[in-house]
Amino acid sequence: MTIQWYPGHMGKAHEQISELIRKIDVIIEVLDCRLPASSANHLLAKLRGDKPCIKVLNKNDLADPAITKAWVRTFERETGVRALPLSAKQHREVNQLIKLCRRLVPNRGKPEWPVRAMVVGIPNVGKSTLINTLAGKCMAKVGDKPAITTSAQKIDLHNGITLCDTPGLLWPDMSDQVASYRLATSGAIGASAIEYINVGLFAAEFMMQRYRELLSTRYKLTDVPDSAADVLEQIGRRLGCLAAGGGVDLQRAAEAFLRELRAGKLGRVSFEEPGES
Ligand code: G4P
Repeated sequence: MTIQWYPGHMGKAHEQISELIRKIDVIIEVLDCRLPASSANHLLAKLRGDKPCIKVLNKNDLADPAITKAWVRTFERETGVRALPLSAKQHREVNQLIKLCRRLVPNRGKPEWPVRAMVVGIPNVGKSTLINTLAGKCMAKVGDKPAITTSAQKIDLHNGITLCDTPGLLWPDMSDQVASYRLATSGAIGASAIEYINVGLFAAEFMMQRYRELLSTRYKLTDVPDSAADVLEQIGRRLGCLAAGGGVDLQRAAEAFLRELRAGKLGRVSFEEPGES
C-alpha cells in the first residue's frame, strides 16, 4: 500500500500547533467517531501538556451507538479529557460543545475575556463543518479532499469564545497498516493515496466479521460468502458494476460499496473498538 503524504506540511503544522497551544485555553480535538483511535494524532497528547482537551467524536450519526459509549468511557479515564459524541452538522448538538468549553474554563467566557479554543484534527474528520456550525455561517471550506491545509485564522463566535482554526494535523505514524485501512475505509485517506480494491476488500472482510447482518440486508445476500472477494463481487453485481463481457468491475464495485458504507447506507457502523490494535 503506497501512501502519499506531505511531510513538509505536517512538520509546519506541528510547529504552528505547539506555538498556538501556549496561547489557548482549551483544545477541541476532532476525531471520527467511527474510528477514534486511528483518526487521532498521537503527537497531540504530547503537544497539549496539561491543557484541557475536548475530544469531539464527530459523525456520531454514522457510528455504532454502543461502541461510541465505550469510547467515551475510555477517553474520560485520561486526565483533563472530556469526550463528546456529536454530529457537526447539528446546531443543537454543537451547542453542547460551547457549554462544555465554558465549563472547562470558568474564569473566562466574557466578550472582553473570551475562552480561547483551538480546533485540531486530521483531514476529513469534520473540522470545517464544526467551525461553520459553531460560527453559524461558512467560515471554513468543507470538502472531501484529504491532506489539504488551510492557514490559521481566528474566529470570534460572539458568545465569549474565540476559535483558532489551525491547519489539519496529519498523524505521524502511517506504519500501522490496519489503522491506514480503517482511515481509507472512512474516506480520510483519498483514492490517490491507496488502492480502492484493497480498501474495498478490507471493508468487505470487516463487515463480514462484525456486521454480517447489515451486509446481507443491504445487498440481499441470503448467504454471505466466506471470502471478501466473493462478497465484493456479489455487491458489484447488485449495484450493476459490470465490465464489458459481463464480469464484475471490481474497482467500480469497491468504489460504490465504500461510498455506501461511508454514507451510512448499510446502517451505523464503527470501524474499531477500544482496546483493539
Ligand atoms: P475537515 O475540515 O476536517 O477536512 O472536514 P470537513 O468539515 O471538510 O468534512 C469532511 C466531510 O465530512 C464532508 O463531507 C462533511 O459534510 C462530512 N461531515 C462532517 N461532519 C459530519 C457529521 O457530523 N456527519 C456526517 N454524516 N458527515 C459529516 P463531503 O462529502 O466532503 O462534503 P459535503 O458534500 O457534505 O459538503
